[in-house]
Parts: sequence; structure tokens; C-alpha cells
Amino acid sequence: MTGDARELAKTIEPESVDFILTDPIYENIDDYRWLAETAMRVLKPNSACLAWVSVRPAARSQIAMEETGLTYQWTLQYAEFGRNTMLHLYGILPKVTPCLFFTKGRRKAKPYIPDLIINNAPADIKPNNELYFAWQKNQIILRRYLETFSKPGDVVYDPFCGSGSLEVTCKQTGRNFYASEIEPDRAEIGRKRLALTQMPLFVLEENEKQATWDLEEAI
Ligand SMILES: C[S@@+](CC[C@H](N)C(=O)[O-])C[C@H]1O[C@@H](n2cnc3c(N)ncnc32)[C@H](O)[C@@H]1O
Repeated sequence: MTGDARELAKTIEPESVDFILTDPIYENIDDYRWLAETAMRVLKPNSACLAWVSVRPAARSQIAMEETGLTYQWTLQYAEFGRNTMLHLYGILPKVTPCLFFTKGRRKAKPYIPDLIINNAPADIKPNNELYFAWQKNQIILRRYLETFSKPGDVVYDPFCGSGSLEVTCKQTGRNFYASEIEPDRAEIGRKRLALTQMPLFVLEENEKQATWDLEEAI
């Protein structure tokens, strides 16, 4: 959906979302507070909310989110092998990108949490085409998080979706999603990327299995 997440989120039913993973503007602490309030409303009990953050404002964002009643669990870390910390126009661009991990209520037991992922591949190849947006997130990492915190058929919510990297990964792995982006050009890139993405057959099969399990549980 193109528009302001704060408005669009009002249409999401309470306790209808299985997993939130999003990448807000790191300096906008109020957006993290709003995100956490929204997570308290739309997430199913014991589900996870992950928010990418930058090292410097991470503590302030964490406190703002905790104040809403979400439970802080851990900070996941993602490091780029080929990248070093550097001074950037907007401040320091670090080698490590943290992601705050919260739950609504108790955490579901997980055998393994990817709390440090080092991307050993050479620096991402940036496509020099109309589908590229400078802050696109790495799909390998997004997939690891999706597969840890959700299952095929689940509903994922990403209020600050940019050019749709998470949504493309959701489609590739059989997750449903709500996503919003305020900048129409960026939302359009997301739509184009999604149109070029095909859901693999094994995911379709998984979805069918999931539908059967749900039915069995209901019976
Ligand atoms: C860091 S970028 C996300 C990039 C994304 N992970 C990707 O791979 O393309 C954050 C996005 O949030 C959007 N945004 C900021 N405030 C918003 C709001 N209130 N509602 C919807 N989108 C918003 C920005 O326009 C920006 O594209």
C-alpha cells in the first residue's frame, strides 16, 4: 500500500499478524515508539517484532519500544564481510547492522536464533537499473529472519517497506504480507520487483500442507 503507515495500519485487524520485520528511518525514534504500539495491537500473542536500527540511536529506540509494553529479547547482528565502518554524510556507517528483537508477551521457544550473521559473500552487487534503491536490505539475511520467526502461510507486516526487499522474500518463501511505503516511486519499485518474483513450487506445496494442518487443528 502506498501511503503513511500510521494511517494505513488502522485497517489491520487486532491480533492478526504473525511476525513484524521492518526497516524504519533510524533517527526517527517516534516511529519506533509507534511501531511498538502498533505491534502490541496487531501481533498475535507471543509473536516477534524485529526492527532494524543503527548502532548510535539503538538504545533510545529500544527504550521507546519497551515503554509500550513489548518485551525486549535480544539484539541480532548482521555484519558485511567486505565492508568496514566508515564516516558517511549522515554519520558513521557501521560494519554491523543491529536488529532489535522484541516479543509481545512470552517468546516462543526457538532452538536457534541467528543472533550473528556474517555475510561472507563479496559486497552486494548493486544492479544499475530502475529497480535499485540505495537502502535495499540483503535478501539472504531477510530470508534467515523470516524462516526463524515465521512459517509458510503466515502474515508478515512491514510498515516501512521501501523498495520491497522483504516482500519479495516473503513471496519467494510463501509468506503473506501487509506492507506500506510513503514514497510512491519507491513503492512502485517494490511492485515491479514483486511482479518479477515467482513463488517456487516447493513453497506452494508447503502452503498446501500448512492448510491441511490448520484444518486438522481446527477439527
Ligand atoms: C530504510 S528504508 C527501507 C528500505 C527497505 N528495507 C528496502 O529494502 O528497500 C525506510 C523507508 O520507510 C519509508 N517511510 C518513512 N516513514 C514512513 C511512513 N510514515 N509510512 C510509510 N513509509 C515510511 C521511507 O520512505 C523509506 O523508504
